[in-house]
Amino acid sequence: MMAPATLTQNSTKLQELIARRRPGWCLERDFYVDPEVFKVDMEKVFMKYWLYAGHTSRIPTPGDYFMFHINDVPLAIMRGRDMQVRALVDVCRHRGSRMCLKPEGHMNSIVCPYHQWVYDLDGNLKSARMMERELYEIDGTLKTKALPFDMKEFGMHQAACKVVEGLIFVCLAKEPPDFSAAEADLKRFLQKQGIAEAKIARAWRYPAEANWKLISENFRECYHCDDVHPQYVKAVPYVSVNRPADSVPEIQAHFARQESRWKAMGLGTGIVPSSPDAYYTCMRAPLREGFVTESMDGKPVAPLMGSLPDADAGAVGFTLYPNFWMEANSDHAMVMNLVPASATHCEMETSWLVNSKAVEGKDYDVEKLSKFYWLTLEQDRVLVNDEQAGVNSRFYEPGPYAPSEIDCERFVQWYLKQISA
Ligand code: FES
Ligand SMILES: [Fe+2]
Repeated sequence: MMAPATLTQNSTKLQELIARRRPGWCLERDFYVDPEVFKVDMEKVFMKYWLYAGHTSRIPTPGDYFMFHINDVPLAIMRGRDMQVRALVDVCRHRGSRMCLKPEGHMNSIVCPYHQWVYDLDGNLKSARMMERELYEIDGTLKTKALPFDMKEFGMHQAACKVVEGLIFVCLAKEPPDFSAAEADLKRFLQKQGIAEAKIARAWRYPAEANWKLISENFRECYHCDDVHPQYVKAVPYVSVNRPADSVPEIQAHFARQESRWKAMGLGTGIVPSSPDAYYTCMRAPLREGFVTESMDGKPVAPLMGSLPDADAGAVGFTLYPNFWMEANSDHAMVMNLVPASATHCEMETSWLVNSKAVEGKDYDVEKLSKFYWLTLEQDRVLVNDEQAGVNSRFYEPGPYAPSEIDCERFVQWYLKQISA
């Protein structure tokens, strides 16, 4: 009997799905619902690319860790005694038990609960009970025999790990792809924004009942913004697609004026645009005149961060495929990541960063600080959940992207290249 066609990375069915794709139109249903496509996505995208795991302020002292699960890999993001951050695969090298059992915590060493093998904070095996010698009995006498066991061979596996401006990125590929351009731009845009020294004022973890690509596409276009995000469009008016044509010269002039000011302030400016070959995009965007931050009224919601000389520094937007977004204002930053859990489910995590010296209740009100993006992200969460519910239907068929959704098309082209490779 012939086995039913399944989607492996090189299967005919997958190649046919890719070949059938109509440029400028969104993807077929299988890309958003099929568990086999999901497996390919995980292997070809998430197990290959650099992923944002979290902020360094979560693990200030040696032995602090938090868990970051991706696919079947539990990573313990651990601060070592040498202050290095490592991504240790939390799977015991003896018989495989998990060892870092809380979502976050502190350890002086990593002790396996099963047979008590002990690892240091850098993942090296420090002790393995009774593995280097055997006890045996002859004529009522207990003897020992040395065994050929080399502890150096049994350190914890590790993923590649990089800290850039306080942002921790991990990569599970044997040979991680080049990250130097993204790293350089993260440094260039964020160097005065105080991200590396920030603290997390608020974190929000929530599920999204949607395929990760629907979430990525949602963040890649503002065709929906005028109607769904009125407060966002008010603060960042250039994203509007409904604005009158005669407003364009004034918006461009405002952009040019702000860019000159920012350059004079020594801030990173310019645009790294999206393209089918770009794994990240970024820019420093101007806000509405009179707005200095992305808050409901444009007024600061926390003290100035980093070494910014002026609160009027626009908003640095950074997108890194496949799982990282951030918006850095002069007084706070929003950083977020997603972790796909299945073809139709993701775990989302958003953190609001502020100056680490700022005191909650005195220097900032956490509700006021987070309201702007909480509202925006909740609006988006509802949109993509509803979209997935429709895409699940047999009656779903791909429709054409609007001209203002060009970055969705670029994202989809980037994605198809990854799974075709
Ligand atoms: S499984 Fe970890 S010590 Fe045995
Ligand atoms: Fe949105």
